[in-house]
Amino acid sequence: MSNQDLIQKAIEMRERAYVPYSKFPVGAALLTKSGKVYTGCNIENAAYPVSLCAERVAIFKAISDGETEFIEMAVAADTERPVPPCGSCRQVMSEFFSSDMTIHLTNLHANTKTVNMEELLPFSFQKTDMDM
Ligand code: THU
Repeated sequence: MSNQDLIQKAIEMRERAYVPYSKFPVGAALLTKSGKVYTGCNIENAAYPVSLCAERVAIFKAISDGETEFIEMAVAADTERPVPPCGSCRQVMSEFFSSDMTIHLTNLHANTKTVNMEELLPFSFQKTDMDM
């Protein structure tokens, strides 16, 4: 799976987004070490805080399917700059992604910013921080 194919899957997933409130569809695609791709879109709710971002839908689908090793993620939205993931998604990503894992952030104008996990969320709170 090429970077471009993963990005394309993220863009296509925007069509599945359930966004009656924000009208802001986001798509995500996550490539596992085993070669599978888990996709996600944002799913909103009339009780707004219950909504879930595209990134977390893709990650939770993969984790609930028994996948724990990931290679690359792509996130897409119709933004002017490459879409910046929210803080909650960054924290969830940092739980499951290695610090050097690649994340492609893109928009619909082919502006892509590629970062690794450490760049996306430096100095993140980790389970090892609870070890005394
Ligand atoms: N959203 C995502 O799905 N991912 C992001 O990276 C940014 C924000 C969603 C949440 C909500 O459904 C809508 O975009 C507007 O905030």
